[in-house]
Amino acid sequence: MSSYKTRKTPGDTKWFTYDRFGMFIHWGIYALPARHEWIKSRERISEEKYQKYFEKFDPDLYDPKDWAAQAKAAGMKYAVLTTKHHDGFCLFDSKFTEYKSTNTPAKRDLVKEYVDAFRAEGIKVGFYYSLIDWHHPDFTLDRIHPRRDDPDAQELNKGRDMAKYAKYMRDQVAELLTNYGKIDVLWFDYSYIGNDQWPNGKGKDDWESEELLKVARGLQPDIIIDNRTEIEQDLWTPEQFQPMEWLKHNETGELVVWEACQTFSGSWGYYRDEMTWKSPEMLIRMLITTVSIGGNLLMNVGPTARGFLDKRAQDALAVYAEWMKYNSRSIYGCTMAEPDILEMLPPDCRFTQSEDGKRLYIHLFAWPFKHLQLNGLAGRVEYAQLLHDGSEIKYTEGELKHFGVGLPKGEKLLVLELPVVKPDVTVPVIELFLK
Ligand code: GLC
Repeated sequence: MSSYKTRKTPGDTKWFTYDRFGMFIHWGIYALPARHEWIKSRERISEEKYQKYFEKFDPDLYDPKDWAAQAKAAGMKYAVLTTKHHDGFCLFDSKFTEYKSTNTPAKRDLVKEYVDAFRAEGIKVGFYYSLIDWHHPDFTLDRIHPRRDDPDAQELNKGRDMAKYAKYMRDQVAELLTNYGKIDVLWFDYSYIGNDQWPNGKGKDDWESEELLKVARGLQPDIIIDNRTEIEQDLWTPEQFQPMEWLKHNETGELVVWEACQTFSGSWGYYRDEMTWKSPEMLIRMLITTVSIGGNLLMNVGPTARGFLDKRAQDALAVYAEWMKYNSRSIYGCTMAEPDILEMLPPDCRFTQSEDGKRLYIHLFAWPFKHLQLNGLAGRVEYAQLLHDGSEIKYTEGELKHFGVGLPKGEKLLVLELPVVKPDVTVPVIELFLK
């Protein structure tokens, strides 16, 4: 059994740390301008000018069954969809606002269709819900609000009542956690500090996080919730950043349950002209590296305004599909290798180890020449194979068998004999059955 224990949290994270890989979906009316989901703030767009995207939102090619099929093929086991992003637009039929998909040409509850489609594929269902809301009339202006630079910005805050907004969030979260069956993840986003001009950021007092979380847990006690309400729950969520080691609790130093969220191209929402798409090698390495230090990866897609995943996103998902088809055993139910094994990590490699401790996976980021040495594993291996094709890997113990001088020897030395040519796999994996 893995010796790593994480800090106890209120939700049930057992399935989550087994599944390891999920799909983030950022979709909303910002897909029409196709210039980042923050466009309303970045370009300081007024309510009136932003309205055209609401009026033109007509996702005639929205087919969440197709999204779900692609997620499943990619090996993703859970999904998190933006039910509402910072612009305040809701993809679901809320009783508490008119600013929702049912009032656009889409004319329907798009969240419902997502839930049904993903559930039907056996994928766990999560909701992202933005704490920030640049549409709600009671949400006060601050340093990131689209209206922050208006001449009358400070004036505009008069009469706005965050307490009313906090109530609105509780009502909507109650809707989301009542009307769609069991929801597995709730992803709130986010709390922030102020600056000189706008000294007040927003955090748990503004969101009334305690109350908000009470509503959520009251309706779905086991749900997994992130920490961005400013009150610690289940999940630490480094964003567009890959930690180098398992995240630890700030105060206690305990290991925590964490999930890196990442994009294919730098933007969350569909961004037509964004060109920094990650290479296949990088995509696969990010997943492996995350699991090798005990984390999950939530990889994002930003569907187009018409509702489909564009060719670039499909290709990126296909990279995962191809690799996961043959190598998912080194991901699901796996975690950081035990400390004594980690000490043997050869150069350019990443380990993962099954929770039960019985299998060790060596991911080869660079293909070595013929021999891979693991000083300490002799006597502990029962069988070795390449994971993708199940072909045997021969090995010697105690010494590297070869002619010549300067060959390594050692009682505990295990030497794997690899083919000279790297197999045609983005990142090849060796599976060791441990005794
Ligand atoms: C952020 C951004 C946002 C995105 C999120 C995903 O904090 O504001 O646009 O939804 O991160 O992690």
